[in-house]
Amino acid sequence: MSSCNQSTGAELDEEYDENDPPTVTTIEQARVEASVKQLFQACDRLPSRPGLLKDRHLEYLKNGLNHLNVHFECLDASRPWLIYWMLHSLDLLDSPVDHMMSSRVVQFLSRCQHEDGGFAGGPGQLSHLAPTYSAILSLAVLGTQEAYDCIDRPALQRFLIRLHQSDGSFIMHDDGEVDVRGAYLAAVAASLSNISVPIMFEKTAEWVASCQTYEGGFAAVPGTEAHGGYTFCGFAALVLLGKPHLCDMNKLMKWVTQRQMSCEGGFQGRSNKLVDGCYSFWQGGLFPLLQPILQQHGDPGMCDQDVWLFNRDALVKYILCCCQNPMGGLVDKPGRSRDFYHTCYCLSGLSICQHCQGGHSISIGHDYDGDAITLKPTHPVYNIWTERAEDTMEYFSKLAQPTIVSTAEDH
Ligand code: FPP
Ligand code: ZN
Repeated sequence: MSSCNQSTGAELDEEYDENDPPTVTTIEQARVEASVKQLFQACDRLPSRPGLLKDRHLEYLKNGLNHLNVHFECLDASRPWLIYWMLHSLDLLDSPVDHMMSSRVVQFLSRCQHEDGGFAGGPGQLSHLAPTYSAILSLAVLGTQEAYDCIDRPALQRFLIRLHQSDGSFIMHDDGEVDVRGAYLAAVAASLSNISVPIMFEKTAEWVASCQTYEGGFAAVPGTEAHGGYTFCGFAALVLLGKPHLCDMNKLMKWVTQRQMSCEGGFQGRSNKLVDGCYSFWQGGLFPLLQPILQQHGDPGMCDQDVWLFNRDALVKYILCCCQNPMGGLVDKPGRSRDFYHTCYCLSGLSICQHCQGGHSISIGHDYDGDAITLKPTHPVYNIWTERAEDTMEYFSKLAQPTIVSTAEDH
């Protein structure tokens, strides 16, 4: 991996080497490094590193939750996602919504719930695992009785059992595609709402482990390219299913440590691709899942509880200096537009950096009263505030498991 001292895009032209010619990727990489370097220099000239623009981000998120303009029409099938990204970000920033907004959101999400038990991307649409996951996480973040009771658990259980395939994989919706996200989404929905039964995850851990590639990360399906998004889903699913040892964890650790960029400090999603703020969570979130397990198994290189195997300071510097829109919201990389997805996953990555057990404390700035900003700790498997995850599981653990009424169509 190149370092920040190497050539910029312009210099590449001058240094043309016919044995190592520039490619689209090397030119784009040099451009990103040049813009990051410029931002770092500007930050270094300030008396102190720029902090998190907490109030700006809050304003952006609250406005979004209240009203989305016509430009969001293309996300009409992802409305529970938008809600989750905004609610979780507000929670991390310690600014949960009031009772009226909470109730509005629950009523909207219940309109997205299909009678077949899954949630759809919008009212009247098809049930799909991705909005099912984001709707359930949103309801868990709201954490009210009204929110919890909105989930039709017996129907949700039937929905998940129906999407489970005989090889252990999950299809994303009726007649839909298989990929490793499905196993994670189903495991999250089932474990949070306490509806998991053995037949729901038969052979799933084995199928997920078969998505680990020669590089060490996980691919969408066996035999394809390892990617941070799928790797998080794959490993988090194995953790939820209690079988992380089915994959090669040393190889996974090697792969994920190599995804942190030496110049930018942020993570790339896959080999030879560009840094992106959202991987602060998809890749960064793997460390608190993986490292404690490796430490427990006594791997000699991993025994120091206080040394994290990624550079938290460098990641925080990338997010604070390169990913903040001055008007609020966070971005993928310099020059990109803000959006709720990158806002959520940049903040989630920052939370991971601040709350890794042990190690030195990480400062992300001060609020107007001069108090240090501390984000709420995010749960590394569910990616909601740890207390929300615990409260949700406690609530549903007191309810009886639905009785499975299986039909041939269900399985
Ligand atoms: C590549 O995009 C992106 C993917 C191959 C999939 C990403 C998957 C996730 C982010 C995980 C989703 C998680 C859940 C829970 C549903 P790209 O080619 O534009 O980006 P790249 O150049 O950074 O690889
Ligand atoms: Zn991204």
